[in-house]
Amino acid sequence: MAMAKLTIDGTDSATLTTDGHEVDLPVITGSEGEVGVNISKVRAQTGTITLDVGFGNTGSCQSDITFIDGEQGILRYRGYSIEDLCEHSSFIEVSYLLIHGNLPTAKELQQFEYDLKHHSLLHEDMKKFFENYPRKAHPMSVLSSMVTTLSTFYPESTEADQIDLNIIRLMAKLDTLTAFSYRKSVGQPYVYPQNHLSFTANFLNMMFALPTEPYQVSPTLERAMDLLLILHADHEQNCSTSTVRMVGSSGANLFASISSGISALSGPLHGGANQAVINMLQMIVDDGGDYEKYMAKAKDKSDPFRLMGFGHRVYKNFDPRARIIKKAADDVLDELGIEDPLLDVAKHLERIALEDEYFVARRLYPNVDFYSGILYRAMGIPTNMFTVMFAMGRLPGWIAQWKEMRSDPATKIFRPRQIYTGPTYRAYTPIENR
Ligand code: ACO
Repeated sequence: MAMAKLTIDGTDSATLTTDGHEVDLPVITGSEGEVGVNISKVRAQTGTITLDVGFGNTGSCQSDITFIDGEQGILRYRGYSIEDLCEHSSFIEVSYLLIHGNLPTAKELQQFEYDLKHHSLLHEDMKKFFENYPRKAHPMSVLSSMVTTLSTFYPESTEADQIDLNIIRLMAKLDTLTAFSYRKSVGQPYVYPQNHLSFTANFLNMMFALPTEPYQVSPTLERAMDLLLILHADHEQNCSTSTVRMVGSSGANLFASISSGISALSGPLHGGANQAVINMLQMIVDDGGDYEKYMAKAKDKSDPFRLMGFGHRVYKNFDPRARIIKKAADDVLDELGIEDPLLDVAKHLERIALEDEYFVARRLYPNVDFYSGILYRAMGIPTNMFTVMFAMGRLPGWIAQWKEMRSDPATKIFRPRQIYTGPTYRAYTPIENR
């Protein structure tokens, strides 16, 4: 195998030596000291590309939005730690922070809340779409389709104020779309947004209020929901966010880009993991609660079973979101007096995995999804809606990343290369000779 050699010459340049070529490459250092070698000119100068399947070692952009240190378990939005934001802030304030770059003043926050409330209604014609989805349709599929549908009601504009208006519309309407898709799936009448309620309380009201009895939003659930949304609000260049940027890099509109992100999030290795965790815990409980058996299956390489909710591409010591959410799950279950056999199994699995050689050696720890499902369950959210909750939380992050990508003069259409490994030239064989 031919080899190349990369030498970092100090802090601002590197040299790549490959097959007789020597190329000087700029080194970029981020505000937290992260170092990246800019390889964008390597192909032009040497005819060689870099190969990084899964992009685990590739930066696709420079970004001011979210900082993660996977070794130390640090997550910050625009410089503010996730712990501080969870303790002091609200999802709406965090959304403003992500989208606009700074915490809002009292006046800015008030205006933002006002705008969100006054754009939360859906065009009545949009309700007709819900009528035609099969009742068993997965809510993530309904959500991504409905977000694309928004672009047919609110055509794209290149004017900054129109883009800002579409951002408000999307933030305001996603909750209504989510709640309506749930009501449709259980055959109940839609509940319209109520402007006297907070953003989160309004969502819970649209989900659970019935015309037959008064519904009071529990402050415990309201706070827990807000916390869950904050924890999921951004996570830099993960699969769905990179999808939003990739689709948006072609000039596709906000709704189309976010809809693609929702589709990417639906996979079980990404946002779908919280649903997969509950399904796994339920399977273990139904099978008599023998968690040791499932630990053994997770470690057996010939068995496709994986311990869902464990492991993370970036966090290799602990996921800071999992710590916060674990405590919140305990508090909510205590306050609501809920005993959940799934939580017991989850705790056993976590305890064993944290001491087990297989998991310790591979640095596999519980991720945010390991406990979020338990919390959603306690709140009465059905399992197939968990990933939709994740999408609601991630929306301001996707919007911030889309906006940043659009305003960055360095943005080009995403167009990765490949190493072709298929057949070399073959002469066409007429069908009668095959
Ligand atoms: N259970 C058992 N073994 C695991 C698990 C797991 N959950 N996760 C990783 N491993 C093993 C792999 O088999 C591999 O072992 P090997 O080195 O002996 O071959 C090693 O740990 C490294 O795993 P990779 O899959 O290479 O790690 P990667 O960084 O590519 O994957 C991922 C990360 C996808 C999250 C993985 O850990 C996984 O599938 N976890 C379960 C799904 C999950 O919880 N996803 C949610 C992620 S968080 C989020 O999206 C919000």
